[in-house]
Amino acid sequence: MKKILLMAGISTLIFACGGSSDGEKKTNSATTEAAPAETPAADAANDKAIELIAGSDCLTCHKVNEKVIGPSYVDVAKKYEATDANIKLLADKIINGGSGVWGEVAMAGHPQISEDDAQAIVKYILSLKNQ
Ligand code: HEC
Repeated sequence: MKKILLMAGISTLIFACGGSSDGEKKTNSATTEAAPAETPAADAANDKAIELIAGSDCLTCHKVNEKVIGPSYVDVAKKYEATDANIKLLADKIINGGSGVWGEVAMAGHPQISEDDAQAIVKYILSLKNQ
């Protein structure tokens, strides 16, 4: 079971690495492709966030639209409005880790991620609400 989840995570990772330059990649992650990109700046910010996520261990425990060990990013986006307070709260949670919001399983902290990068990741995650 764990193996299947890991495989799912890896296929998301492969997709994320393929990025927009290779639209032909055959994965099921069409949802990532449909991330809102109202302005080129927002698009670039999302690309950076996707890179940060792919470069860390997030995909081991999170998928865009499926619960793995942690909640799916779409579920996170549905739970929190994209307010400054929530962005800061979630960025701090990524950096410091924690548990008790989605269940007993804890997320380990990521002290190597800067506050700015963590907020960029959160903004991207919260932009996935409409999927
Ligand atoms: C070891 C598995 C694991 C890894 C790796 C992991 N997470 Fe999590 N994540 C979790 C779990 C479990 C929760 C639910 C925690 C809770 O219930 O409070 C969670 C919750 C979250 C939340 C919601 C927090 C809240 O309070 O609602 C966000 C956002 C998040 N993770 C982002 C990330 C990002 C970004 C990364 C990579 C830098 C990452 N996670 C890596 C397991 C993980």
